[in-house]
Amino acid sequence: MQQVKAVVARAKGAPVELVTINVPAPGPGEAVVKVQACGVCHTDLHYREGGINDEFPFLLGHEAAGVVESVGEGVTGVAPGDFVVLNWRAVCGECRACKRGDLQYCFATHNATQKMTIAEGPDAGVELSPALGIGAFAEKTLVAAGQCTKVDPDARPAAVGLLGCGVMAGIGAAINTGAVTRGKSVAVIGCGGVGVAAIAGSALAGASPIIAVDIDEKKLEAARGMGATHTVDSSQVDPVEEIKRICGETYQGAEGADVVVEAVGRPETWKQAFYARDLAGTVVLVGVPTPEMTVPELPLIDVFGRGGALKSSWYGDCLPSRDFPMLVDLYRQGRLDLDAFVTEEIGIEEIEAAFDKMHHGDVLRSVVVL
Ligand SMILES: NC(=O)c1ccc[n+]([C@@H]2O[C@H](COP(=O)([O-])OP(=O)(O)OC[C@H]3O[C@@H](n4cnc5c(N)ncnc54)[C@H](O)[C@@H]3O)[C@@H](O)[C@H]2O)c1
Ligand SMILES: [Zn+2]
Ligand SMILES: [Zn+2]
Repeated sequence: MQQVKAVVARAKGAPVELVTINVPAPGPGEAVVKVQACGVCHTDLHYREGGINDEFPFLLGHEAAGVVESVGEGVTGVAPGDFVVLNWRAVCGECRACKRGDLQYCFATHNATQKMTIAEGPDAGVELSPALGIGAFAEKTLVAAGQCTKVDPDARPAAVGLLGCGVMAGIGAAINTGAVTRGKSVAVIGCGGVGVAAIAGSALAGASPIIAVDIDEKKLEAARGMGATHTVDSSQVDPVEEIKRICGETYQGAEGADVVVEAVGRPETWKQAFYARDLAGTVVLVGVPTPEMTVPELPLIDVFGRGGALKSSWYGDCLPSRDFPMLVDLYRQGRLDLDAFVTEEIGIEEIEAAFDKMHHGDVLRSVVVL
């Protein structure tokens, strides 16, 4: 057991606090990781606002890179000193998805068994709920060893840590779920961290045109920097008509894009995605809806008549052991600009300020550096 500083959300809506926590020595199958960098994701704010569940107190932070400090009994995949990116889908190898070889869909992903706890004050000893089973706004955190993916140690922690959530979700939504390749047209609706990553992934795959859609001009500017060939401000024009027009200019007769990625998580933007895809095209829903949202009124004949596929994307349907090292490699070769996602590096005490900045359009990611 050791004590470290960490950022905790104690109660719904209350500002986060920097507190001392207990991190147990790793048990069987677990690892303690010294965190070097952790991005501030919208999901952390959702946790703080009670939007995920009410298992307070939460240990926030889940887009992280760091160095393995110690491992428990039976751990063979990583060793102390390894540079790792943390993932929130450690596969089990045993469930029906894993057994048929679809590890990216594992239905029984796991986290550390032991609990980290608050070390001081009136709630000393209270167990913490780590965000997405990670909890990396902390000097050190305890995770399942399978949540540690070893990558090239020369990579910048603040940049590659982002592969741990939003950037992987976006790139994977395009190239894994949407099967974007060269020769295909892509539209991405919603250009926050996830949508812009879907654009970067589409550019990496050689797609063209790549059409970015958002209601915020600053986000469209970021999208252009990541490889969007066209941008559409959907607060001004009908995005469905614009996507059809642009794709029709490139591919004669095209009635939309081959792949449309929805990275907002709302019924009306999903419906735009549905009608903005070409015949036999694919819609990828990577934005996360809230429980009360329903599929908008949709004639079944349109579902049939347009053919193709309506898909959802969990974590970009990634397999961390396959995708993280590959993307870090492309980053090291200068083919994937992960640095461009890091708008600012901040201290661990600046997380509330980073949450505030999320409501303005000019921050893609604030990254806590430890
Ligand atoms: N599927 C997954 O595994 C996974 C992983 C991480 C995040 N997500 C989800 O992806 C979504 C995007 O995450 P993010 O971090 O990029 O969020 P973000 O808040 O940074 O970005 C959302 C973007 O959508 C734009 N937007 C809002 N309303 C719009 C509209 N009507 N039309 C067009 N654009 C609109 C905003 O201007 C913003 O640029 C969220 O729902 C998030 O929960 C999913
Ligand atoms: Zn499994
Ligand atoms: Zn996240």
